[in-house]
Amino acid sequence: MTPQPTLVLGATGKTGRRIIPRLRLRGLPVRAASRTSDTAFDWSAPSGWDAVLDGVGAVYIVPPPTPGPVHEFVARAEAAGVRRLVLLSGRGADTWGDSIFGQDMRDAEDAVRASALEWTILRPNNFDQNFDEDVFHAPLLAGELILPAGEVPEPFVDLEDVADVAATVLTSPGRHGGMTYELTGPRALTFEEACELIARACGRPITYKQVAAEEYTALLTRQGLGAEAAHHIAEMFVMMTRGLSTGTASTTDEVAAVLGRSPRTFEDYVVRTAATGVWHR
Ligand SMILES: NC(=O)c1ccc[n+]([C@@H]2O[C@H](COP(=O)([O-])OP(=O)(O)OC[C@H]3O[C@@H](n4cnc5c(N)ncnc54)[C@H](OP(=O)(O)O)[C@@H]3O)[C@@H](O)[C@H]2O)c1
Repeated sequence: MTPQPTLVLGATGKTGRRIIPRLRLRGLPVRAASRTSDTAFDWSAPSGWDAVLDGVGAVYIVPPPTPGPVHEFVARAEAAGVRRLVLLSGRGADTWGDSIFGQDMRDAEDAVRASALEWTILRPNNFDQNFDEDVFHAPLLAGELILPAGEVPEPFVDLEDVADVAATVLTSPGRHGGMTYELTGPRALTFEEACELIARACGRPITYKQVAAEEYTALLTRQGLGAEAAHHIAEMFVMMTRGLSTGTASTTDEVAAVLGRSPRTFEDYVVRTAATGVWHR
């Protein structure tokens, strides 16, 4: 019998584009979906969702940045006969109280947990790849990363491990249902240490500068970000600085529990990424 396709939302994003080839190498059919993918999927256009869900066995969900739509999406998935959901959330999603930060993730988790389908939630810490594919890349090129991240160490996780876990869970029916996996790297390091490792590998100075959250918000707005978005990002770092009391600054063994091997080190990420030249000016 031909296996049912796995629907991967956020197919062009940092996790989706890593999960898709892993599923295809296992010989599984994949429906890669996002606004700009071959299969068009838009969180703001529910009229197109049923066609995207038709015949699908499992879904990898990268939730939208606003609370709400995942509830309707899960109802449509149930009606379409989908059997399993794997949701990308974030480490500590249940420790952020009423903060605006993470409302999207908490809401998506609620929608998935309330479903009748087999579900698994992945909660990674900050990605290693934020340093070359996302917000920290431009500051590293400029030679200085300015953040209100404090001295609290962060157990950065490699996206290759997040993708390995997601692909394993998506392809192991009945083994990870009802589980919430907190995914970390093998050790926590401060942003200053992370910058130092990247600087050493690149052979040029890259420094870390600690600022207050208000100063960081002002910096982001001067760089052109809207006031609300800037506040939102700064709030994420305020949450991170509470990581010692909330537990999100510590490592877990949940990558190893799913994969049967240790997570990749930050140093491994650094040598691989330095070789691509992405940090060269
Ligand atoms: N960065 C971190 O350290 C970190 C840590 C833990 C959790 N997270 C969570 O990771 C999630 C982001 O996942 P990611 O990094 O894999 O994605 P990403 O790299 O941020 O890319 C976003 C993906 O979503 C798609 N997309 C954007 N708007 C859409 C819309 N309206 N409808 C449908 N698809 C849309 C984009 O493709 P198109 O443009 O083609 O639509 C793209 O594929 C966030 O929820 C974040 O909270 C991040």
